[in-house]
Amino acid sequence: MSNEKLHICDHPLVQHKISLLRDKNTGSKEFRELVSEISMLMCYEATRDLPLKKVQIQTPIAIAESSVISGRKLAFVPILRAGLGMVDGAMALVPAAKIGHIGIYRDKANSNSAAEYYCKLPFDINERDVIVTDLMLATGVSAIHAIGKIKETGAHSIKFMCIIACPEGVNALHEAFPDVEIYCGAMDKGLNEDLYITPGIGDGGDRLFGTK
Ligand code: URA
Repeated sequence: MSNEKLHICDHPLVQHKISLLRDKNTGSKEFRELVSEISMLMCYEATRDLPLKKVQIQTPIAIAESSVISGRKLAFVPILRAGLGMVDGAMALVPAAKIGHIGIYRDKANSNSAAEYYCKLPFDINERDVIVTDLMLATGVSAIHAIGKIKETGAHSIKFMCIIACPEGVNALHEAFPDVEIYCGAMDKGLNEDLYITPGIGDGGDRLFGTK
């Protein structure tokens, strides 16, 4: 895919925290904290192109020619359940954003199809810049389904943010939606026979919520 649509966050803090995340001895509490911290740092990158407008601010000393974000509204849409772990960190940076939720599971009988079990999006999502979050971009099936659903509302500014991606997922998502920019913290080797990212972090949902 073209490089300008794929952003790998090479910041040392992100890379360091991803190494801790990968460690199978990292427990759920630390895992959740790391996911939140990484998401905050990545959200900083994913919002780098928000437009600014000039304002004048009276400081205690003088008038400053300064800048504020020019009225664009954001929405985060985590893909349940692992994408939920990324919301806190992102919201810490953009507290006025709204949050939608999409619950999707991969159909075990057909690894190429996604089954949606929940969807609740902000009523004005079509007027917002949308950032879809998931811990992993593996096959791309869930991301493609979620973004397709959001596009049906008329939303046209959509980014996808994940912590670990692999070439299979990135290529599939780019093929389905060439306009969607992908932000990830690491690009791993690929998928194993169980469709897990290798070396990856294991099952992100289980590690976040301590379910295994
Ligand atoms: N989902 C996960 O939780 N882990 C993977 O490696 C791939 C998908």
